Amino acid sequence: MRIELHDFSMEYDERGSGIPLLLVHGFPFNRHMWEPQVQGLSDIARIITPDLRGHGDSEFTRGSYTMDKLAGDLYEFLTEIGVTQPVIIGGLSMGGYITFAFYRKYPERVAAVILASTRATADTEEGKLRREEMAALALESGSGAVAEGMLPKIMSPKTYENKPELVEKMKRMMEKTSPQGIAGALLGMKERPDSTGTLQQIDKPTLVIHGADDQLAPVQEAESMQAILKTSHLQVIQGAGHLPNLEQPEQFNRTVREFLGSL
Ligand code: MLT
Repeated sequence: MRIELHDFSMEYDERGSGIPLLLVHGFPFNRHMWEPQVQGLSDIARIITPDLRGHGDSEFTRGSYTMDKLAGDLYEFLTEIGVTQPVIIGGLSMGGYITFAFYRKYPERVAAVILASTRATADTEEGKLRREEMAALALESGSGAVAEGMLPKIMSPKTYENKPELVEKMKRMMEKTSPQGIAGALLGMKERPDSTGTLQQIDKPTLVIHGADDQLAPVQEAESMQAILKTSHLQVIQGAGHLPNLEQPEQFNRTVREFLGSL
């Protein structure tokens, strides 16, 4: 479905009824990364999956996509589709950074939080330089060059061995992201603040899910967040890397189902 927001046109899907579960995809993916969750969980929630600006089928804009800007997009989007009640917001990796920004800006619109494969810490100086280099690479050489560089680390070694069709699918998804979208997200992530203080403020039930073999955000990131959060549960998914919702969808969905049932 398509919706016009104030400065771009956004594509999104929704399925199911009941409490809204807004799932925010990671970088540089799109709403289709949530297909196993839409299929496996829409009997218990209204699952809403937008493409962030510059990703999937949403239009791109130029310049940096700060996490605040992307959180503002989600707020405008939810309001436009009539979802003004608190939602469960679940974000994977960059989606998690956006979830922190959303919580800081609109805490009254959050019923519960799911933090998947993410971290509260900001980028190191070295990390920031890498973001700039990658943004330049995307704009000069296209999205395929970035996808090529990211692909070998995005999933668990077991997934590369056992699920070549998933690896191929994720490569195609990355390649589909516009170079402007890739650059905008990288520059926005580079600017993101440390969210450790936000973890202390979150007073809503929170589920932390992380792949045991995550090579991009080591599982210690999740353990550190869990240690600070007031009301949270940590589930480490074995046999999964940075994309546990796709690599081990049954375990991931079971964990989310139990969490939703506990609310
Ligand atoms: C993601 O999956 O969204 C990215 O790995 C986030 C990042 O680059 O920090």
